[in-house]
Amino acid sequence: MQILVTGGAGFIGTKLVEELIKRGALVKIFDDLSSGRMSNISHLIKTGAVEFIKGDVRDFPAVREAVSGCDIVYHLAAQSLVPFSMERPDVDMEINIKGTLNVLMAAKEFGSKVVFTSSSTVYGNVARIPTSEDEVLIPLSFYGLSKMAAEHYCRIFSEQFNVPTVILRLFNVYGPRNTKGLMIDLYRKLLRDQKRLELLGTGNQCKDYLYIDDAVEALLLAPEKSACAGDAYNIGSGESYTVFQIAEFMLEILGLQGVEIFARGGKAWLGDLELTRPDVSKAERELGWKAKTSIKEGLTRTIVWLEEKLGKIPNAKTLH
Ligand SMILES: NC(=O)c1ccc[n+]([C@@H]2O[C@H](COP(=O)([O-])OP(=O)(O)OC[C@H]3O[C@@H](n4cnc5c(N)ncnc54)[C@H](O)[C@@H]3O)[C@@H](O)[C@H]2O)c1
Repeated sequence: MQILVTGGAGFIGTKLVEELIKRGALVKIFDDLSSGRMSNISHLIKTGAVEFIKGDVRDFPAVREAVSGCDIVYHLAAQSLVPFSMERPDVDMEINIKGTLNVLMAAKEFGSKVVFTSSSTVYGNVARIPTSEDEVLIPLSFYGLSKMAAEHYCRIFSEQFNVPTVILRLFNVYGPRNTKGLMIDLYRKLLRDQKRLELLGTGNQCKDYLYIDDAVEALLLAPEKSACAGDAYNIGSGESYTVFQIAEFMLEILGLQGVEIFARGGKAWLGDLELTRPDVSKAERELGWKAKTSIKEGLTRTIVWLEEKLGKIPNAKTLH
């Protein structure tokens, strides 16, 4: 089977490509390397099962060429930062909406299935907790808005042109190779200072954190198990933790005592969500998927990787 992964040199894409080639797929990676890294995928290219194409999803002829001959397109390439979307909504819109439209137009021409990675940010401040997929979407950020619009393009291509599409609303994915987000932020701060740890915002933001291996398993199951009729699925662990709790778990795993945790207060960043807790029963029922990794297990594996990448925190426990 020939598969295209746009954004395949990024955090989630790299792990997805690793798993796809283990299952015997031939994979093309299409990535402009704006946040993805060649160093993430050079070991995959060496296997001979992966072809790398440097390109931009805003460039339709390049996308069309990459999609041709592919049974499945995993469309992960995106501007994936909420704060950047608030500074440059124009760029965010071009990459996330126009880029997705380009993928869908090419998929329509070549008969490819499309798996789209949407985000928990499409929900905004929700009325219901846990939140199911039929919640009204009122995103707070331009990133959430561009993901919401792209979801609708997927749905309409599916309903009107029979392009098989499936939408996965990923919650906060963390794990090895993630060079952004809460875990690496806390680890970097602890490397600098083992006495005081500053949290962004109030520290009470409460979110669903999903370990990378679980996210990738959902991506693998989606094109096979869903009806591919433009439906969206919540892909989260089903458990939420505050930033304060995550910081405490990290200190416990690292065996660091006497660290004062304090919150800066205010909003962590413009467009940030205060609370996410998805109802994940639809994914369980229809995809046969459920997250398996506990937060402490996932954090331990992430910290082992952070130690290798950034160095060991003085006085921290040896984990491996
Ligand atoms: N990580 C999360 O917590 C999370 C949560 C919800 C949704 N998502 C979505 O999952 C997908 C993967 O996220 P990630 O965390 O691996 O992010 P990432 O930034 O590591 O990966 C995105 C990849 O897309 C590439 N890219 C960016 N703009 C491009 C363009 N114009 N043309 C071609 N390639 C381009 C980047 O170089 C990078 O390799 C994204 O669509 C993101 O919005 C991620």
